[in-house]
Amino acid sequence: MEKNILEAKKAYDKSYSPYSKFAVGAAIKMKDGSYIHGANIENASYPLSNCAERSALFSAYSQGYKKEDILSITIIANDDRPISPCGACRQVMFELMPKDTKIILTNLKGEVKETTPDELLPYGFILDNDK
Ligand code: THU
Repeated sequence: MEKNILEAKKAYDKSYSPYSKFAVGAAIKMKDGSYIHGANIENASYPLSNCAERSALFSAYSQGYKKEDILSITIIANDDRPISPCGACRQVMFELMPKDTKIILTNLKGEVKETTPDELLPYGFILDNDK
């Protein structure tokens, strides 16, 4: 399996999703060669759950990385097509990653779709000082 997908699968295996039973994993590849994992982490109070993409990005920033350190993000789920990120994650990826970051969407069948934050959220909201 290709390295990016292998790392996303490692994140997927760490999912805590007893309510939806829909595991998702994300692996951010940094310019320094390291990978930051994120999984979806759910809660009995359902809206408090966090998606894999946001878990990974918040973890990267919490470790001191910045948007310009990010090369790509690979996201995986057991879906019948490459996973499609939710609207909230599209908004967060739009702000916290460069607009042309490679977003690799995949599934356990190995189907792959490549996209970017700009393509996933056309005409996205951003404050003036961050444009
Ligand atoms: N989920 C993600 O982690 N990422 C996505 O791109 C789509 C949805 C999670 C949220 C919830 O824990 C579960 O998948 C089912 O919606």
